[in-house]
Amino acid sequence: MQKLIIANWKMNGTVQDAIKWIAELQKRLDSILPSEVVVAPPFTALYSAQVILQETPFKLAGQNMHWESTGAFTGEVSPLFLKEAGCQYVILGHSERRSIFGETDEGINKKIITAMTLDLIPIFCIGETEMERQEGQMGFILENQIRKGLKGLHIHDISDLVIAYEPIWAIGTGLTATPSQIEETHGYIRNFLEKFYDAPMARKIRILYGGSVNENNAGVILKIKNVDGLLVGGASLDAQKFAKIVKSG
Ligand code: 13P
Repeated sequence: MQKLIIANWKMNGTVQDAIKWIAELQKRLDSILPSEVVVAPPFTALYSAQVILQETPFKLAGQNMHWESTGAFTGEVSPLFLKEAGCQYVILGHSERRSIFGETDEGINKKIITAMTLDLIPIFCIGETEMERQEGQMGFILENQIRKGLKGLHIHDISDLVIAYEPIWAIGTGLTATPSQIEETHGYIRNFLEKFYDAPMARKIRILYGGSVNENNAGVILKIKNVDGLLVGGASLDAQKFAKIVKSG
C-alpha cells in the first residue's frame, strides 16, 4: 500500500508561512510522489493553503475538530468548516490534546464517529507514556485507547482509518523509538486489529509512526514492517527537511 506522510505543524505557521512552505515543497518534489503527502497547518491557514494546493498532489488535514457540526460551542471548529476549507483528513486524539486539553477517549470516539459520517478520514493518535512502557503496560494502554476510540464502529466503517502510533516519550524529545520497538509495537497494533475486527479488513488500516521523525531516520522507519507512513511534527516545519522525508519513502 502507498505510504502516507503527514506534516503536523501544531501551533506553528502563519498564512504566509504556509504559502511559502507549499511553494518550496513543490519545488523540491516531483509531481509524481512516492507517497501520499498531507499537511496539517493551523486552522487559520487551511483555506489559503487549499487555494494553492489545488495545483499540487498534496492534501490537507485539520489538527482537531468538534464532534458536533454546528451550535453554541464558542471557540470550537466544526468538521463542516474543515471540509469547506478543503480537508480530507483530520488528526484526532493527539497526545497534546489529551494531556494539555483534557480530551478523553469518549470525546475522541464521538469525534471519530462524526468525522467518518462526514467523510473526513480520522488520523487517530494513540501512544503510551515512558512510565507505562517501563511498567509493561504498553499493550494494555494501546488496546484500551483503540477499543474506546473506535467503540460502536464497524470494521467496514473504519477500513479507511489511519492510526498514528506516537509514543509520548518520543514526541518532540529527539528520542525516536528504536526500529525494533517500532516493529514490535506496530505488529502488536496490527495483531490486535486483526483479532478485534475482520483480519483482511484490518490489514487495510494504515498505521503511521510519529515521534521525533526527521530526514535522517525516516528512510529506516518507513522500511519497518507494518509502518504505513509517518506523522511528522518539528521536522515538518522546514520544507527542505520535509521534502527529504517524503523522498525517503
Ligand atoms: P515531533 O516530530 O516534533 O516529535 O512530533 C511528533 C508529533 O507529535 C506529530 O503529531
